[in-house]
Amino acid sequence: MTNPSLLILAGDGIGPEVMAEVRKIIDWFGANRGLSFDVSEDLVGGAAYDAHGTPLTDATMEKAQEVDAVLLGAVGGPKYDVLDFAVKPERGLLRLRKEMDLYSNLRPAQCFDALADFSSLKKDIVAGLDIMIVRELTSGVYFGEPRGVFKEGNERVGVNTQRYTESEIARVARSAFELAKRRNNKLCSMEKANVMESGILWRDVVQEVHDAEYPDVELSHMYADAGAMQLVRAPKQFDVIVTDNLFGDLLSDAAAMLTGSLGMLPSASLGAPMANDRPKALYEPVHGSAPDIAGQGKANPCACILSFAMALRYSFDKGDEADRLEAAVNKVLADGVRTADLMQAENAVPATTSEMGDAVLAALDASL
Ligand code: IPM
Ligand code: MG
Repeated sequence: MTNPSLLILAGDGIGPEVMAEVRKIIDWFGANRGLSFDVSEDLVGGAAYDAHGTPLTDATMEKAQEVDAVLLGAVGGPKYDVLDFAVKPERGLLRLRKEMDLYSNLRPAQCFDALADFSSLKKDIVAGLDIMIVRELTSGVYFGEPRGVFKEGNERVGVNTQRYTESEIARVARSAFELAKRRNNKLCSMEKANVMESGILWRDVVQEVHDAEYPDVELSHMYADAGAMQLVRAPKQFDVIVTDNLFGDLLSDAAAMLTGSLGMLPSASLGAPMANDRPKALYEPVHGSAPDIAGQGKANPCACILSFAMALRYSFDKGDEADRLEAAVNKVLADGVRTADLMQAENAVPATTSEMGDAVLAALDASL
């Protein structure tokens, strides 16, 4: 048996720092759990642009298609703001999502007990929160044609197109229903069927998939603006939420902040099963490249570490090892080890990125 393969694309800003901690965790599983991976590394985003003039080379794209899972750090930074749209760092990430056809983006928003005080909401509203947003990731306004800035008479007009086919809606709905079945059996679908035809179709197709294949899952529909309001009013009413690419982008950021720190939240982007039955997959933290703190050892590696836990769960069928890693992160937080983003007292000394990673390793050792 050959080892499963991982491609690490650390990217820009804090990406390489947090990914260095994940490398330690990967090695730990190899040394202690008989779970070895063939790890390769490559460039994405601004780092790829600096080296090759493109945010993702064809060769890297090909590698990403071949491995069992991709782990991505973060892309982007102010240095690249002036670049042409077509070569901006974000385009590298969007190309990976599109060409790997990673249509189902799982974004858990989970409130860690030790961090409930960090939410901007009252503690009782968020304590124990555990919801999952399933965001469609390969279609909608992010990719719809026509798009562009055009001349119309004597002024310019900016155009993007929201477009969804039935099959695109049905497949992401199925993945959300499947998740709901494994959790609390409740799915809420969000769109704007009151103003958008694509929203009307979205609602219809989700309902049809429900009636034909998942009649036992409790399904509700909500307009996305009302959903945003309910997410901050009473987030614990939700279990799984399924929504389109753009609404999912917004709602998942809002949901993430309910938990107090973007630095804690992982994500999985999954596509169709490959020949070996594993889904095409890319795992990345929800946070961005945080250029303001890059290179200072301040970044919280937990979101990236927990993204690897999602890889163990969803790509490698190692739910028990994912539980072990998540429990280790929980223990570290409960013990009071905190990076700067998780500190309240001004005078307390925060853990550095690598101290946080080492604390997780120690908790893993203690779990044996
Ligand atoms: C995200 C990000 C990306 C998006 C950017 C970096 C292109 O905001 O993953 O949520 O808009 O999808
Ligand atoms: Mg976003």
